[in-house]
Amino acid sequence: MPTFPGQIDSKLPHVGTTIFTVMSRLALEHNAINLSQGFPDFDCTKELRDLFTQAVNSGLNQYPPMAGIPILRERIAEKMRRLYAIEYDPEHEITVVPGATYGIFTAVATFIRPGDEVILFEPAYDCYQPAVDTAGGKPVYVPLEAPDYHVDWRKVHEAITPRTRMVILNTPHNPTASVLSAEDMRMLEGLLRGTDIVVVSDEVYEHIVFDGHAHQSATRFPGLAERTLFVSSFGKTFSVTGWKMGYVCAPRELTTEFRKVHQFNAFVCNAPVQYAFAEYMKDPTPYLELASFYQAKRDLFRQGIAASRFRLMPSRGTFFQCVGYEAITDERDTDLAVRLTRERGVASIPVSVFYHEPRYDKVLRFCFAKSDETLQRGAEILCKI
Ligand SMILES: Cc1ncc(COP(=O)(O)O)c(C=O)c1O
Repeated sequence: MPTFPGQIDSKLPHVGTTIFTVMSRLALEHNAINLSQGFPDFDCTKELRDLFTQAVNSGLNQYPPMAGIPILRERIAEKMRRLYAIEYDPEHEITVVPGATYGIFTAVATFIRPGDEVILFEPAYDCYQPAVDTAGGKPVYVPLEAPDYHVDWRKVHEAITPRTRMVILNTPHNPTASVLSAEDMRMLEGLLRGTDIVVVSDEVYEHIVFDGHAHQSATRFPGLAERTLFVSSFGKTFSVTGWKMGYVCAPRELTTEFRKVHQFNAFVCNAPVQYAFAEYMKDPTPYLELASFYQAKRDLFRQGIAASRFRLMPSRGTFFQCVGYEAITDERDTDLAVRLTRERGVASIPVSVFYHEPRYDKVLRFCFAKSDETLQRGAEILCKI
């Protein structure tokens, strides 16, 4: 095997294998119930699979248009209109991309120059900081406030400087399962008024908001919509995380710049998958029913561990449930997550890894996008701990 003879000045010196890969691998090794990584352990609908194979068998297998096939972009525009009462022009304001992660990375690469500051809320989904670091930007962290992980907008106000170029939002929020309220959005709207700051709003769990609440998309608020790149993921919405496809909606000026970078990165994304989604989205039922589908799973899992020694934290959206374990052990969450996988056969994610400097608050995250049987078996084990 050849080896590189020179020096490598890593742009991401602190990045190793993601915790999701580590925990899923460990779960597999120990034949553990995997409640760690955020993907469903059940399949998507047969209808969606059939639409994909039909597209493949119809020969829709060559490069599609750079921004995505027009009919899919039209369906996305309809969905944004229906849900958030906002008009996006499919031609100039909607771009289909190979996954939300890619959409976020490309948005950061498009707008962030060396030295630009990007406000991130911590704990933060793990792809934001590496995107900012790769672009030479400076992450500026605002902590979400325990115990319900709300935003203290005074701290955001203090974090904004003349160098602030971007705010990355995430609602519903991974890992904490908190959601931003309309009041939160109005606070941000007020803080950003009159600035050139761009918002990247990671709303991949937009359809998974519980207890009858409406999802407060940044796109509902005119003072945010005008500066927001809204990012969503078909993978989360239609239970096909392995198909890696999402979309970005943004005002024309922002989309124009975004597409300049996208054009020389992925350029296009999987054609037959796009045709399948376009057909599937004619009926809004699958995404409109997603919240009640996952709420039933959330409730099943919560009931299952209600009698355990874990402290249930609120789960207002996403398919995650965080729990405190201060009544059980003083171990670090990273150690406990590994031990529970090895010794008890149930895998989780330690929340400390979502901080740039680990904060050991004794919180684990469980994913309940799993079959009811898996959730029940997982809960039984957790009740014995
Ligand atoms: C908050 C958040 N954003 C983005 C993603 C990635 O979405 P995609 O698979 O479409 O890249 C995830 C996946 O877990 C996520 O939880």
